[in-house]
Formats: sequence, C-alpha cells, structure tokens
Amino acid sequence: MCGIVGYIGTQAATDILLAGLEKLEYRGYDSAGIATVWEGEVNCVRAKGKLHNLRSKLEQIETPAQIGIGHTRWATHGKPEEYNAHPHMDNAMRVAVVQNGIIENYRELREELKAKGHVFRSETDTEVIPHLIAELLKNFSPSSPSSPLLEAIRQAVNHLQGAFALAVVCADYPDELIVVRQQAPLVIGFGQGEFFCASDTPAIVAYTRAVLPLENGEIARLTPLGVEIYNFAGDRLKKQPRLLNLNPTMVEKQGFKHFMLKEIHEQPGVVRASLEAYFNNVEENVRSPINLGLPEDLYTDLEQIHIVACGTSWHAALIGKYLIEQLAGISTQVHYASEYRYAPSPLTSNTLIIGVTQSGETADTLAALAMEKERRQRKEAKYEARFLGITNRPESSLGHLVPHIISTLAGIEIGVAATKTFTAQLMAFYALALDLAAHHQTVDKETLDKIINGLRQIPKDIESTLESQERLSEQLAHEFAETQDFIFVGRGINFPIALEGALKLKEISYIHAEGYPAGEMKHGPIALLDAKVPVVAIAVPGSVYEKVISNAQEAKARDSRLIGVTPVNDGEAAEIFNDLLPVSDVEELLSPLLTVVPLQLLAYHIAARRGLDVDQPRNLAKSVTVE
Ligand code: M6R
Repeated sequence: MCGIVGYIGTQAATDILLAGLEKLEYRGYDSAGIATVWEGEVNCVRAKGKLHNLRSKLEQIETPAQIGIGHTRWATHGKPEEYNAHPHMDNAMRVAVVQNGIIENYRELREELKAKGHVFRSETDTEVIPHLIAELLKNFSPSSPSSPLLEAIRQAVNHLQGAFALAVVCADYPDELIVVRQQAPLVIGFGQGEFFCASDTPAIVAYTRAVLPLENGEIARLTPLGVEIYNFAGDRLKKQPRLLNLNPTMVEKQGFKHFMLKEIHEQPGVVRASLEAYFNNVEENVRSPINLGLPEDLYTDLEQIHIVACGTSWHAALIGKYLIEQLAGISTQVHYASEYRYAPSPLTSNTLIIGVTQSGETADTLAALAMEKERRQRKEAKYEARFLGITNRPESSLGHLVPHIISTLAGIEIGVAATKTFTAQLMAFYALALDLAAHHQTVDKETLDKIINGLRQIPKDIESTLESQERLSEQLAHEFAETQDFIFVGRGINFPIALEGALKLKEISYIHAEGYPAGEMKHGPIALLDAKVPVVAIAVPGSVYEKVISNAQEAKARDSRLIGVTPVNDGEAAEIFNDLLPVSDVEELLSPLLTVVPLQLLAYHIAARRGLDVDQPRNLAKSVTVE
C-alpha cells in the first residue's frame, strides 16, 4: 500500500531515500516525504502528488544527513494532501514516523493524547504514533545506557492495534533508526557500515543483497554499528540475513517505455520458468510428470476446494476452478476474499483452502485465510482443513500464514496492473489441476502428456502473438482511445479472460468496461449495446466456439463494433468480426494463456495513447495491505 524506506550509514541519506522511494512508488503515489536528522534537528520535507514534486522541493535544501526515513503514500485516513503526507511528527518536532498500514485504535489514542496537551495537525491515523512515542520518551533520561528510543517505541507499539510497519527517527538519538513490523512487510538491508529498511526489496537492491525480512511482532534497532532485533516483549532475537535472488536490472525498464509493457513481453520467459519448475522431463522415468513439492496428504481423500483471492488473482482462481473441476473432478468454489471473510461457506471436511495473491500481502486474502484457520481450529477435528498458498512472493506474510506454497515464477512485477504474475498464476493452476488429476486418476497418461506437451509450446505461441499484436493493438488503440464503454465477453475457460480484459482496461485507461459470460448478455446487458459500445469477444475453437460466435452476432445486430480474439486464419471469424486480434490455434483448455495477451496489449496501448500513467494508475496501489 504505502512504501517505507530508511537509511543509516555514511552516505547522504536524502539521495538514497529518494532512489528507494522511486522504486517503491508503485506501492502508493498520492504524496511523499522524507525526514533526516542533522545537527540535532529533524528536517522533514513533504509534497503532495508524485515523487517528482518532493524531488523538486528537496533540490533547494542540501543536507549531509546520514540518517533518514522516507515514505510514499496511498491515502487511507485523510485526503492526499501535504498535511496528511508522512513523515508525521510530534509537537516538539523531535520524533518523525513513517507508517504503512492502519492503526485501528487511533481515535482513542488521539483523544488520550489530546487530553495530555498534544495538538494534531493531520487527519491520519499515523500521527498518533510520534505523539505517543514523545509522550513515553518523557519517562526516560536521554543518558540512559540502554536505548530509551527503542524502549519508548517498544512500549508504544504495544498500545497500537492494527496492521502496520513503522520506521522512526528522533533528533535526540541521531544514531538510531528503529523499525517495526506488525502484519505489514518490512525488510532490513545489511551493507558495509550502513543499513537500510524498506517495505520491499527493490528499494534497496541497488545497495545490498543481504536482507532480513522482519517477522510480525518484531522491532529492530539499526545503528552505524549493526542491527539488533527484539520481539515486542523486549527479548533480543538472534537472526541472520540471507542473500536475495534479485538483481538491480530486474527493477529497470530495460528499454521499454513502461514496466507494464516490459512485463507483458516477459510472459514467454515466465511460462518457460514455470514449465521447468513444475514439470519433470517426460523422458526421465519419473513417477509423476508434475512436481510441485506438495505432500501426499494434501491430496488424500480431498473432496472440496475453496479458493480466496482478489482482483486479477481472483480471475486466475476462476480459471483454476475450471481446470480443477474439469480435469480432477473436485468441486471448487472461488470466493472474493473480502466477502468470504464475513460470510464464509459452511464448514466441510476433507477440504483444501487455497489463497492466491501475487504479493502475498493483500490484507483481505490474508484475513480470509486467518479467519478460516481460526474457525476450523475451534471446531471438531473432522473440519480441519489443509491450506495452500499461491504467490509470487513466498517470503511474504502469506508464506508465514500457510504451511504449503506454490511459488509462481514471474519475477518482480512493478506495473500496478498485474500481467505476467497472472500468467504465472495460471501456470501454477495448470500444474496443480494436473497433479490433482494424476493423484485422483481422473485423466489417463496420454491426455496428461498431451496437455503438458501443449503447455511446452505456449512460450513460442505467446512470442508470435506478441509480435503480431503489437502493431494491431496499437492501431485499435488509436481508434478506441476516446471510447467511453467497452464490453468483453467469453465463455467457459475464457469467461475469466473477459473479466481480466475489462479489469485491465478499467484500471489503466479509466474507460468503463465490463466482462460478461457471453451467454448472459441477452439477459440484460445487451440493452447497453449500440454503435458507441464495442464488444470484444474471445472466440476460440472448442466446446463453446459456435455459441460465442452467435452471441457476438447478437451484439453486431445491435450495431456494436465487434473485436474478436480468435485463432489466426479463422475464416468464419474474419467474416463476422470488424477487427481481429488473432492468437495461435491451441487446445481450448490452454487458450487463456494466449487470449489474455492481446487484451493486455489493447489496454496498455489505449492507456498510453490517452497519455495516462500506465504503471501508476490513479487511486490504485500494487499491494492492498488494508481492508
Ligand atoms: O497481490 P494480489 O494478487 O493479492 O493483488 C490482488 C489485487 O489487488 C490485484 O490483482 C489488482 O486487482 C491488480 N491491480 C490487478 O491488475
């Protein structure tokens, strides 16, 4: 949601903080700010809007400070105005705090602090924290041999309710940067005589690859001499950093105009990496062609699957449901995590619960899983469930919450609109559905091999789709840049692709778009159609091809312009559709891996032509760590 960065060491902190914030801007971009400590003062600079506004302000201020914290905000409490931007400070301007998350009991704390004379200047929940720390610091002598700042912050966090990560500096303790993690991500970076903290590793990977992600309920004291870690009870913990498998070029655009375009083009590589990781070589005489590293008892007597997810991950889960039900014959339900949390399905035995989240930090998904775990623990043993996570960030909070993870292999995704992580999730679901089918013996070996061989062709097919589509989708974008409404339709396994195509268009181009199962159009939405509303239909040969074509004809009869995502050289489609976005002709079961690509490109080119900020669309953030 928000991005936090912190530095203590021997270099100019401002430059490092700004460079770090640039890499975190995908997490929020309503406002930004930094606070550094120099000559016994905290110097805090904040600006509304994108990071370049803060950068311009800082150009006029030169400070050699070697310690500081920075923040890029996605507004939750209070408008995206400068007075709500982080860092927030106490009244004496001695303590500066940046926060990612939500302090649920901030109103009570605010009232208590007001009664003690504290004056608040923002509408945020965060502002109570520097005031509370300042209040608690009054109980310590600055010359105390232990760290009064650490102790005051430790006491303060024990008063806070909610999910949060913090970084704190104080003018009276210029050699200490204190960071806290409680259900919002925070990682510490270890350099030579310098230390970093950040909400996410891209912010620090240019300086160090030795990192230590904090766990929930941990607090760390960073000084120029080293890092000490404690739990909220104050016990010192022994922890070692580990080496990060990420290099700085992975977080660069590498010649592409936007991260989103680069990430769309990375999809063939993502599929190749997934094939290598999830599928064994058929020539080697192995017991199963699929290798997800999951324990046998996850599959035994499995009767039901519930999947919780949000946004694009929810769309991937819908395709997962199709695959699992059709291939393995296991009844599967897909839930919006935000709904499931408050209206869960009745308890069933022999059930697998799957959480899908590329970031592994989506608050709704984590909360739904935590709720499900808790309620099952309270009930009789027969309702115990098995839990599995599918994520691109196995080191995330999801990784701590569930015992088993399928890691998706997309590499880091910076564009706020999910593209390659979606494809990676689909690959995980193909592998899982086939693995379940193999265990439950619902498909024969010949079919299994045929599907896996088909998957092995997909990277090349995506490559040729990308090559042929780049120009076509750009042309279409030119024509549709001013269109106000779009309808996307698909059926069967491609219905979720219609939803995904519509979501991509909405989120980056701000054009109203809806995805429908093509057969549902006639039950109401068809009333929306006229010459001004184009219909994008995904029509690939298979069980529902003729049906989708008929539904498209119905739209055409209402004057809609028809755009078809269809196989190359499909003569019938060429006659019906006004425009074609052709993809390679593959088995219907595998087609979503291809049909999504032209829709991603169409959304991208429309947004780019409208001159919009493709990678950082308004009102959105890459990971939504609040409810
Ligand atoms: O990190 P997650 O996969 O849990 O994120 C879920 C959604 O917030 C995310 O897919 C969102 O819808 C994206 N902006 C889609 O492009």
